Amino acid sequence: MISHEALILGIESSCDETAAAVVAGGQRVLSNVVASQVAIHRKYGGVVPELASREHLRRIVPVVREAVEQAGIALADLDAVAVTRGPGLIGALLVGVTYGKVLALALGKPLVAVNHLEGHVHAVLLEAHAAGRRPELPAVCLIVSGGHTILYHVKSESSNGAARFSYARIGGTRDDAAGEAYDKVARMLALGYPGGPVIDQLAAYGNAKAIRFAEPKMRGNAYDFSFSGIKTAVLYHLRRNPQLQPEIEARQQALARSERSAETMRQLASPATLDLVASFQHAVVQDLVARTFSASEQHAVGTILVSGGVAANHELRTTFEEEAKRRGVEVFFPSRALSTDNAAMIAAAGYPRFLAGQHEDATLNAEANFPLA
Ligand code: KG4
Ligand code: ZN
Repeated sequence: MISHEALILGIESSCDETAAAVVAGGQRVLSNVVASQVAIHRKYGGVVPELASREHLRRIVPVVREAVEQAGIALADLDAVAVTRGPGLIGALLVGVTYGKVLALALGKPLVAVNHLEGHVHAVLLEAHAAGRRPELPAVCLIVSGGHTILYHVKSESSNGAARFSYARIGGTRDDAAGEAYDKVARMLALGYPGGPVIDQLAAYGNAKAIRFAEPKMRGNAYDFSFSGIKTAVLYHLRRNPQLQPEIEARQQALARSERSAETMRQLASPATLDLVASFQHAVVQDLVARTFSASEQHAVGTILVSGGVAANHELRTTFEEEAKRRGVEVFFPSRALSTDNAAMIAAAGYPRFLAGQHEDATLNAEANFPLA
């Protein structure tokens, strides 16, 4: 029965991860290979588009080969190829789209186009299914990463035995994504790149109530986000506190020696810096959690899905879980491997589209701006 065990190869190349995965029946991950470019972009403190495209070109063939091998199948066993069409860096996306298109054509298999954001929604569903749980839809989904901070209302209907998902945008960031704010603050403090994981670990050692950052007031849409204000507030805090400069320089020197572990950073951080880091994280987490729950209340949904790189954050998870318990709402997160960019989520999101016959032809193009709704 093709509808249960169809084998889909997912390909993802929208940002700085070259990824390929094989997923059976839209739910069973047979392989999930991710080649990260973090080491390449680290010295620039962010993703450099030209370098990303070049690296995707270098990695795409071996990554797909490894995903197929690890799944224990042959290319000919695939039922379809699903590829990320957008949104993302155009040069990076083009590598995956072109490769996916040629591969599907050569194999004579259907090609399915997936929105990267839809992939993040399916990452949560994939993880829940693997654990034998079935999140009840409609749900509110928060996608929070280095490139996105966006809230969707997610619905699914059954048509001819296949689920059909639909998405409505509730709100999103008007400036920086939350992960971008983590990365920029980490850069100001010389904590290394990416900033999220190290700030996550250091925050546990500081007092989150030490510094109060003003909550952004969002006129027009209360479900929009803004993180550029808090980033500037951290900058002003550093200007007002020049005594924090010598330790910043010491950390810069450690990074230059490739000493970048969270433990090294902690040893080179004063209590005042740990308080700053904890207060920054607390403000970001409180804002993300408050707006997401207020959206879930407005839409009267009992399920919240949280996905994207920042969904790995410990304080974010605990705060969501505690608040969900208090309100009698269910909250779902992907595992770490499925939180950050990967291709298993692309294959999973492509599965219902494959079943519904939404196949593409050779005219498929990558779209840098590709809204989900
Ligand atoms: O989803 P992702 O791998 O790539 C994008 O699509 O952006 O997310 C990467 C982002 C980075 O900004 C990184 O700093 C952040 O996610 N991040 C975290 C954590 N782990 C990664 N932010 C907060 N806490 C974490 N534990
Ligand atoms: Zn992403």
